[in-house]
Amino acid sequence: MADLSPDLSPRNPDWWRQAVIYQVYPRSFADADGDGLGDLKGIAQRLDHLAALGVDAVWLSPFYPSELADGGYDVIDPRGVDDRLGTLDDFDALVAEAHRLGLKVIVDIVPNHTSHLHPWFQEALRAGPGSAARERYVFRRGRGAHGELPPSDWQSVFGGSAWRRVPDGEWYLHLFAPEQPDLNWDNEEVRADFRTTLRFWSDRGVDGFRVDVAHGLAKDLTEPLRDVGDIGATGEDALPLVPPGSHPYWDRDEVHEIYRDWRKIFDAYRPPRMAVAEAWVPGARRALYARPDELGQAFNFEYLEARWDAEELRDVITGSLATARAAGASATWVLSNHDVVRHASRLMLPPGTDPAAWLLADGRAPAVDPAAGLRRARAATLLMLALPGSAYLYQGEELGLPEVADLPVEVLQDPIWEQTGHVRKGRDGCRVPLPWTAGLPHAGFGAREEPWLPQPAGWPSYAVDRQRSDPDSMLSLYRTAIALRPRFGDGPLTWLPAPDGVLAFSRADGALCVVNLAATPADLPARSRLLLSSGPLDDAGRLPQDTAAWLHA
Ligand code: NOJ
Repeated sequence: MADLSPDLSPRNPDWWRQAVIYQVYPRSFADADGDGLGDLKGIAQRLDHLAALGVDAVWLSPFYPSELADGGYDVIDPRGVDDRLGTLDDFDALVAEAHRLGLKVIVDIVPNHTSHLHPWFQEALRAGPGSAARERYVFRRGRGAHGELPPSDWQSVFGGSAWRRVPDGEWYLHLFAPEQPDLNWDNEEVRADFRTTLRFWSDRGVDGFRVDVAHGLAKDLTEPLRDVGDIGATGEDALPLVPPGSHPYWDRDEVHEIYRDWRKIFDAYRPPRMAVAEAWVPGARRALYARPDELGQAFNFEYLEARWDAEELRDVITGSLATARAAGASATWVLSNHDVVRHASRLMLPPGTDPAAWLLADGRAPAVDPAAGLRRARAATLLMLALPGSAYLYQGEELGLPEVADLPVEVLQDPIWEQTGHVRKGRDGCRVPLPWTAGLPHAGFGAREEPWLPQPAGWPSYAVDRQRSDPDSMLSLYRTAIALRPRFGDGPLTWLPAPDGVLAFSRADGALCVVNLAATPADLPARSRLLLSSGPLDDAGRLPQDTAAWLHA
């Protein structure tokens, strides 16, 4: 059989097109110095776990100096390392170790906003209205007789007005937390500084960038500012309701010019640095960010948001492949990340449930059967890893971790909790520190202090050491699947006829994937050899509900 493994050598500029990329949320991955917060040394020491898993690259969520008002996405210095997480030398050592193990490294960059503690914002506060320092951000006078009302009705993604007033009476824009003032991308100094940041990390050997809020940088700041009015939605939910490109601050056409500029920097390196957009915009618009002269890839959130329903998944997969193809990009697939309810729980929610609302603070979260959730998550993984394009994994999904839905409110750190007036608990339930060794304190996450978010009682049962040698564990399934995945090649997907509730498709070289989402067991294609299944077949050799199989024709 032909060797269809992706070529990850430095010579291959396209290594990322069919890659498996593993997201590390540094504060929750591994705590080497025992202070309760994960750190860079902890990651470096655990890279062997990722190499053994067989992934191609590691994506690091922010590790920059930060007040942690938004889990590190409030950046004080985009070219530094938070001293609680390590030093630049630790970062260099981490990159060197990753490369030694054959792993690429992607860093997360946050161009839409800084921390309010960034020297630029502090300078802007001191310098006052009309100053050049305020021009780097979005400061405006308020409405009302005394400027006492926000300059527009724009809403923060985390809840409430997106404007905050400063003591001299002006207001500044923050599409996220008040501690995250938005930068003004019409300002040349902002653009130039960002180019410096891209070169800084590229020169240190990083292989790519995950671009935070890629759809937010360009804003219509012409006076008077336009209200969003009736569409009034807080975030990107409004986008399908307005003509493309017309929203005052999301997904404006001017944003693409910024990425075409960055592409020149990426392409000056060998191999060119890759990039992936975090852009919560409808599919066809999302593909624009992934054009070859822009970022190259964009996360596919429609896939993440799809219900566990065969027809819906088939439509989303077909649509995603078509939009990626039209843009000259490769498709991406993601089931979980640090912003959403972990899929081992989410895929079990009753139809119509908003996963974020499931985490309401009033304790009304419907119970999810962990065993059933795990079975479904195993099938979902085999489906995702059989699709053409890149798969992005989130730390802990390879252990089958569920969402920790019952974190006590006193420990919550996510700004969503405060900004929604204690209505939504937010995203901490998917950020609970990982369990490594069942018998050690804090399940081996760190040796001394309590982890920054408490691990629930059952956490050690998911530990890496428990799963490593168990052939039926989630970890073993991920390892085997990632090792076998190259058999699907990098060619297209062809849907095969299948009964209602069953997905079946073929890829290169006779590789087949069948997923049964229906209650009735499904027959597997005749004359095919089973390579791997997410769970046992029934006595008649059929595929039970919530089970996926990889076969060879
Ligand atoms: C997207 C990040 O993934 C999320 O964690 C963060 O809160 C917002 N962007 C703001 O930076």
